[in-house]
Amino acid sequence: MSTFWSLWISVITLGTIFACWWLLWATRKGQSTDQETDRTTGHSFDGIEELDNPLPKWWFYLFVGTCIFALGYLALYPGLGNFQGFLGWSQHSQWQEEVQVADAKYSEIYAQFGSVPVEELAENGSAMQMGQRLFSNNCAVCHGSAARGAIGFPNLTDEAWLYGGEPEDILHTLNNGRQGNMPAKGFMPAMNSAQVDQVVNYVLSFSGREKDEAAAEAGKDVYAQGCAGCHGPEAKGNPSMGAPNLTDDAWLYGSTYEWIEETVLYGRQNNMPKQSERLSSDQIQILAAYVYSLSN
Ligand code: HEC
Ligand code: HEC
Repeated sequence: MSTFWSLWISVITLGTIFACWWLLWATRKGQSTDQETDRTTGHSFDGIEELDNPLPKWWFYLFVGTCIFALGYLALYPGLGNFQGFLGWSQHSQWQEEVQVADAKYSEIYAQFGSVPVEELAENGSAMQMGQRLFSNNCAVCHGSAARGAIGFPNLTDEAWLYGGEPEDILHTLNNGRQGNMPAKGFMPAMNSAQVDQVVNYVLSFSGREKDEAAAEAGKDVYAQGCAGCHGPEAKGNPSMGAPNLTDDAWLYGSTYEWIEETVLYGRQNNMPKQSERLSSDQIQILAAYVYSLSN
């Protein structure tokens, strides 16, 4: 915040408190004349008189108290522009302290599972309950609470894997993240629109749903030139780069002509964020076992 706005806020905040204070004193009816209550202001409406009593003492001192409290609060905590307060408190530092306390508390619990092999851990009921909670907190936003994925986010409960479903593959995915990258038109940047139609029909034919048999037949050549290098000659995919198997009828994107055409025309870029900076290696071990358990 610039100095100007910092001063602006401070002046208005303090000014308001002092204005309240002033108002209170300036309009105060002498407390010494307490006994002389029930003075009227002289106003009378329909026989109802308006009285001019002093403020009750308890109310008056409560008001004074809140002004003093406000000043004390502003001295200790951030509230006056850039002034941090004498306690040095901030939301962020409080949050970090809480995280540290929680980490210290839970890391012991996680630690007992950190060195258990993934396959074994996947059989452990209490570890998997923990895994489910970790998954809800860290992964469900993208993969869904039931891990069934969505368009662009892989389903983790089926047998189809982009990068492989062995324990070491899953650990690698979680620790390092993954970048799926399909260039537009694959290895054939000069592909014309007839060839796009052919190769899309060819891909559709893998799951028996091509629109045009002749085009699908012609698409074989286009596929061999532009696609086989990544998706494999039999279109079974390549886990080392995350090129999906195109024959298994499990789809990262849609399975219709339009979806596949879009993939071919524009390519796809996708990112699974690396978790090793956010989660401890024990937590990652538990999560890998949880993901493993979903399809085993
Ligand atoms: C910001 C979204 C996002 C979050 C959060 C996220 N993922 Fe992913 N994940 C993805 C995307 C997108 C992919 C696919 C990457 C690609 O297409 O190359 C992916 C891929 C994966 C894969 C590989 C699947 C395969 O078929 O090989 C696994 C396993 C996985 N995620 C597990 C997790 C776990 C466990 C967590 C929680 C710790 C998590 N992900 C959090 C977006 C996310
Ligand atoms: C450089 C490697 C590469 C080439 C060449 C390539 N692809 Fe891909 N393809 C990928 C990758 C990687 C993905 C996954 C993208 C992601 O993770 O989002 C993909 C995704 C796809 C998908 C989406 C699959 C699904 O499950 O939704 C289709 C369809 C596809 N490619 C078809 C083709 C066709 C047809 C060609 C040839 C014209 C081609 N690809 C060329 C790497 C490649």
